Amino acid sequence: MIEGKHIILGICGGIAAYKSVYLLRLLIKAGAEVQVVITPSGKEFITPVTLSSLSGKPVISEFFTANTGSWNSHVDLGLWADAMIIAPATASTIGKMANGVADNMLVTTYLSAKCPVFVAPAMDLDMFAHPSTKRNLELLKSYGNHIIEPASGELASHLVGKGRMEEPENIVKAIEEYFSTSDDLNGVRVLITAGPTYERIDPVRFIGNYSSGKMGFALAEECARRGAKVTLITGPVALKCKNKNIYRIDVESAKEMLAEVEKAYVDSKVAIMCAAVADYCVENRAESKIKREGNDVPVIKLQKNPDIAATIGAKKEKGQILVGFALETDNELSNAKAKILKKNLDFIVLNSLRDKDAGFGTDTNKITIIDSAGAEKVYGLKSKAEVAKDIIDEIAERIAK
Ligand code: PMT
Repeated sequence: MIEGKHIILGICGGIAAYKSVYLLRLLIKAGAEVQVVITPSGKEFITPVTLSSLSGKPVISEFFTANTGSWNSHVDLGLWADAMIIAPATASTIGKMANGVADNMLVTTYLSAKCPVFVAPAMDLDMFAHPSTKRNLELLKSYGNHIIEPASGELASHLVGKGRMEEPENIVKAIEEYFSTSDDLNGVRVLITAGPTYERIDPVRFIGNYSSGKMGFALAEECARRGAKVTLITGPVALKCKNKNIYRIDVESAKEMLAEVEKAYVDSKVAIMCAAVADYCVENRAESKIKREGNDVPVIKLQKNPDIAATIGAKKEKGQILVGFALETDNELSNAKAKILKKNLDFIVLNSLRDKDAGFGTDTNKITIIDSAGAEKVYGLKSKAEVAKDIIDEIAERIAK
């Protein structure tokens, strides 16, 4: 999977830098072309001579090469790379990456990189547990970077805890796994709904919900990364798509969403209904702003919205895969299972508002996948990007069968 890939190996100043030598060796053995970029303090821990001997390329550390004056272009490097791995990533470099402090070659290269970035933190346990490190790692995750969690064990300080850089073999495995799924949905048409719907009361007010669109957008990015042709139909959200292979359609209400979903569904192999669609819209919508006058309180009459998932579920053709979500607050499993049948889903992704840091607005989610035969797969709390990967793995398996 790694053979022929262009990889930037970023090395920071930490005792775990010695492990980067093994990592470099494994990458080269696997057939990768590796360019090492090291921070000035990284060179205190490991010499460029060792690294250039193994990689077969001069190690880059400064913006200019001292003896020739030639410029090391972080932009070109960023375009050249298929992946960038920062191992070890120190608290300081993680902070700079999270906040765009471009004061060395490694961070400028990171900021220019268009490829997936893997970050393997290594530091003392208290530094790793510090709220600033945690916040910076969360920021990196939210940029779509892959964090390779450090292991627990004895640290350079002889204290025991979480902060040891993951073993080089496991870092290589993580990258191999990433590339192994990089085109398994090549050309597959996937339709995804995301975000909330807004149901107008009058020109200035609406009925809505707390969906941010993060889960649906993470699914769209994951499908596009794996080669799918993605149509993302989204309610009003403040998010942007990163992958240019995502065709985005913005809608406001459930009825508008249904109209776009019905058009796109005809050609779709897979449909994932992640939007939090309002079940009701306003029957007595006002054409001008409702005024606060007199003592009367306006009465808003509701009527049922169409069930988008059930509508396309009823038209599902052999070979099409329809996935729904269930956002529950109680009786989670039985409610979710009932929706599989009602909407003719292949499987449903259950998330509960009773789980901390799951559901609306968060960067993380905790899901259970339930298939039409009732089999359940329970997952731990993960970033929405990782949750998206689990869901798309499930779909890719079904397509492969
Ligand atoms: O956007 P985020 O902030 O990241 O939050 C993600 C999420 C919580 C919105 C997402 O993970 C999620 O659970 N989405 C579905 C929310 C929901 O509306 O659940 P539901 O149980 O009410 O609906 C069941 C299924 O039917 C869903 O697939 C929904 O898209 C679909 N539905 C519901 C109502 C309707 N009128 N039409 C539909 O198609």
